[in-house]
Amino acid sequence: MCGIVGYIGSQQAVPLLTEGLTRLEHRGYDSAGLAVLGTTGLKVAKRAGRVRDLSEALPKRFAGKVGVGHTRWATHGPANDVNAHPHTDAKGLVAVVHNGIIDNAAALRQRLSDEGVELASDTDSEVVAHLVARSEADTLEGKVSDALSAVEGTYGLAVLHVDFPDRLVVARNGSPLIVGVGEREMYVASDLAAIVRHTTTVAHLDDGEIATVTASGFTTYRLDLTRTARDATTLDIDPAEYDAGEHESFMRKEMHEQPHAAERVLRGRLDERFGTAHLGGLNMDARETRAIRRVKILGCGSAYYVGQMGAALLEELARIPADAEAASEFRYRNPIIEPDTLYVAVSQSGETIDTLLAVQEVRRKGGRVIGLVNVVGSAIARECDGGIYLHAGPEVAVASTKALTNMFLGFALLALQLGRVRDLSIADGRRLIAGLQRLPEQIEQVLAQEDQLAELAGRLAGAESLFFVGRVRGFPVAREGAQKFKEISYRHAEAYQTSELKHGPLALISPEVPTVAIVPDDELAERNVAALHEIAARRGPLVVLTHEGVDLGGLPDGAAERVVVPRNERELDPILLVVPLQLLAYHAALALGHDIDKPRNLAKSVTVE
Ligand code: G6P
Repeated sequence: MCGIVGYIGSQQAVPLLTEGLTRLEHRGYDSAGLAVLGTTGLKVAKRAGRVRDLSEALPKRFAGKVGVGHTRWATHGPANDVNAHPHTDAKGLVAVVHNGIIDNAAALRQRLSDEGVELASDTDSEVVAHLVARSEADTLEGKVSDALSAVEGTYGLAVLHVDFPDRLVVARNGSPLIVGVGEREMYVASDLAAIVRHTTTVAHLDDGEIATVTASGFTTYRLDLTRTARDATTLDIDPAEYDAGEHESFMRKEMHEQPHAAERVLRGRLDERFGTAHLGGLNMDARETRAIRRVKILGCGSAYYVGQMGAALLEELARIPADAEAASEFRYRNPIIEPDTLYVAVSQSGETIDTLLAVQEVRRKGGRVIGLVNVVGSAIARECDGGIYLHAGPEVAVASTKALTNMFLGFALLALQLGRVRDLSIADGRRLIAGLQRLPEQIEQVLAQEDQLAELAGRLAGAESLFFVGRVRGFPVAREGAQKFKEISYRHAEAYQTSELKHGPLALISPEVPTVAIVPDDELAERNVAALHEIAARRGPLVVLTHEGVDLGGLPDGAAERVVVPRNERELDPILLVVPLQLLAYHAALALGHDIDKPRNLAKSVTVE
């Protein structure tokens, strides 16, 4: 949510900053802005809309070799030109870009206006520019340190000052900030994606750190300006991973990367000899693992729904009571934290503030939390007692696909390991390992059904409202399917337990309201089919995701479209049912002409409560 990029060196900053912003745009895309220090002082350009709107509207002679840029997802105040970052002080000496939330912004705004400062915007961030400008410290890092000593909240920020044209000062508290080292040039960014084409030698700031960045290097400090030791390391990353390549969108690319991503999360973690998984990162020995009496999974959005799939896996394989809860709700009900409960935080970005705060609540009360996280070194990963990295590679599209698949596999590995120190037999362990090993190939088979799914999606896209239904293992699949559909197609898609349809929503079924039904070949297949008949009897159009051999019980001709997915072990089937739902959502959004990677009103990483 919101992206920052900065440059200092011998090149013109504007093209580099604009390119960086474009690559960060998935994080927030309702407004964008740039500030540069050139021969004639500080220049700022910002406006509501996309980065390309900003680029097209840049004034002539907008140039400089030092600059910062920002792409925004509005929190305080609407998305308009004034609220866009960078923010400046009244004299135009200082420019600030900020990610995060300043909790005491109202008090600081009041204090500044009592002192005669006119605030131009509705934002919390603007106060930082005024506070830096008003500081009497004689260095820029001193001014930033002064300003931040008054600030409560989270920030990743970058500051320019006309009196200090040889430097950028950046700071981090809760919102990521990295410094990138180039050849006589330096970068700063909130996300590696912004700068990865120019350098992969980076230093990650810690919370409570400030850095001064000049063209030749960087120095890090604590907030009180005592020095910290922080070196840059060169990451083993292929910059091409951050490009969509031949794909027309990141979502499509990421869906098609799933077979490989799935192989990566499993690699080196399966032990066929003992029919178990090895998850060294959990930091728990067999005795501690056995002592777990309950598992509580916390995540938001798709991570919450896959958490429900994970809870089912844990209950089935390890026979441990498990449930998932929206991390955004958890902390507000004063949860009871028990010592023999294992808490599991699930997050692609590792930044989602609701999930992070839930983790902090658990740890504050002495609970043990592990993370299922994709972004290495992210805030949630660092906050947890241990965890499983998902190795899905960078995920750019707002709608999560490959990360979600790897979350499911992460849960399967966890369930296997917890199960095998309990009652799961070695034979069952090996059965599941064989199933996991088949999955990448089977995901490939589902992806090969894209044409059929695209055709169906084209028809579903015409409906204003749809149901996604499933039971038990299939219900979180339906929830995830509805989520994907609504977030990128903007159609009303509601998930329901198939069993509950007759208790209310059946009233809405009509030829205009299609239902996508999850009907795996499991112990509930017959009951699911009975519900399909109830829908068909009300002339509700049906798309049935099912396995070969499931008897749909003579539904009338044309009443249902059948999508057959490959069969794995029952416990692992849910993920193979999720993949066609991704394709349905994707092709519906495509048919409707939407911006698939950047759906309206959403952002990839939600770093505000
Ligand atoms: C946002 C995104 C969702 C995502 C959720 C959790 O709401 O739009 O697609 O599932 O955040 O993100 P996380 O990074 O914690 O998995």
